[in-house]
Amino acid sequence: MDFLTLAKQRCSVRRFKKTEVEEEKLEKLLEAAHVAPTAANQQSQRLLVVKSAEGLQKLSKATNSHGAPLAIIICGDHDNVFVRPFDGKDMVEIDATIVADHIVMEAEDLGLSSCWITYFEPSIVKKEFNIPSNLEPVAILSIGYADGKKSSPDRHVTERTPIDKVTFYEHF
Ligand SMILES: Cc1cc2nc3c(=O)[nH]c(=O)nc-3n(C[C@H](O)[C@H](O)[C@H](O)COP(=O)(O)O)c2cc1C
Repeated sequence: MDFLTLAKQRCSVRRFKKTEVEEEKLEKLLEAAHVAPTAANQQSQRLLVVKSAEGLQKLSKATNSHGAPLAIIICGDHDNVFVRPFDGKDMVEIDATIVADHIVMEAEDLGLSSCWITYFEPSIVKKEFNIPSNLEPVAILSIGYADGKKSSPDRHVTERTPIDKVTFYEHF
């Protein structure tokens, strides 16, 4: 499948079957994360895979992961990240976001579905999973097999702002 077809097919899924994600597929998701580009190749991402009943229960205290059998908490390491010297901006969120997007697209390619979650209580995530103070949880991905119909790959025509409204050439 070409990339645009896959990208249009991907949609946020908020109802999952109980079916577990196969170990081989999890490995591929982690490989997709592994090859993601990061600023100055600093690879600030730290991934926490949650799939046990106990782990998912802990996660449910911080967010709604929609009953997915697998969640990946993507953290960024503020102690190991490229920092732009001009203004001190660190790239933790950008690195983690690219990693997350690689995982989401690989999931789609594997016939899995996902939902990107930022609506979580960071302090609870940190406490429940003993996340060290230098790590910031940036995104949580719920992943599994969709239960029910997925959104149409044609929805972007109406659900996205037209390209010419968000793209500018040479000047705003
Ligand atoms: C950075 C980011 C954060 C998001 N956070 C949440 C979230 O906390 N909960 C949720 O249900 N969906 C979340 N989403 C999913 C978006 O609502 C969804 O991608 C958007 O509405 C477009 O729909 P689509 O993914 O089906 O194309 C998030 C998506 C992104 C990219």
